[in-house]
Amino acid sequence: MLEVRGLRVRYGTSSPALDGVDLTVAPGECVTLLGANGSGKSSLFSALSGLLRFDGDVRFEGDDVGKLRPAAIVARGIAQCPEGRKLFPELSVEKNLRLGAYVGRRDRRGTDEALERVCTLFPDVRDKLRAPAGALSGGQQQMVAIGRALMARPKLLLLDEPSLGLAPRMVQAMLDAVAAINRAGTMVLLAEQNAYAALSIAHRGYVLANGKVVLEGSASTLQQNELVKKAFIGA
Ligand SMILES: Nc1ncnc2c1ncn2[C@@H]1O[C@H](COP(=O)(O)OP(=O)(O)OP(=O)(O)O)[C@@H](O)[C@H]1O
Ligand SMILES: [Mg+2]
Repeated sequence: MLEVRGLRVRYGTSSPALDGVDLTVAPGECVTLLGANGSGKSSLFSALSGLLRFDGDVRFEGDDVGKLRPAAIVARGIAQCPEGRKLFPELSVEKNLRLGAYVGRRDRRGTDEALERVCTLFPDVRDKLRAPAGALSGGQQQMVAIGRALMARPKLLLLDEPSLGLAPRMVQAMLDAVAAINRAGTMVLLAEQNAYAALSIAHRGYVLANGKVVLEGSASTLQQNELVKKAFIGA
């Protein structure tokens, strides 16, 4: 269980990017984080990953993980797939994937098993293991980026806009893969601007605006909410 209470992030002297966010992800859940550009989604992920200083309380499985360093947070079972993929384009797909297992690097067999699971989930990735990551299509690179986070064998996967820049057909395939990861037992926190697609696989969701949670509820409640429809679905 992830429990976030009163999370505050401020860059320099501007108004806070996150202004007292409360949020939970329970075992088995896929939770989506909706919000327009600049609402604070990526800042939340950076805070949870230990990449950004913040005020507030972050507990994972009952332990205070708020002040841990990034590697220690990954070791506790929280892995992030950052916005914009951030692969090493010159390195092979397999090397990129194995880097994700760095924290558990002494466990060669566990790493090989994790690699096999990623290849089963994303067959395109298996075909490209030896290719430089930079030679893959955008959608394939996104699969590698998610796969790299999965190599850490996380209990909670943080996905920051995995469908960004993908063709509509690819968006659904990507989110189907995320749903499969969740069904296999990994908690998922999924930031998306593609609200309709995200709500189709999530159990619950939160809507962020100007660093505050302005709405939360079950996926079906949010799908029917007028504000969500207007702001994100365009109905
Ligand atoms: N490194 C930074 N330095 C200063 N301000 C920042 C920095 N990163 C983000 N911000 C500001 O914090 C606020 C939240 O940004 P954030 O990137 O978290 O939003 P987001 O919801 O992820 O947006 P997007 O959908 O565009 O990715 C914005 O006002 C942004 O300008
Ligand atoms: Mg962002």
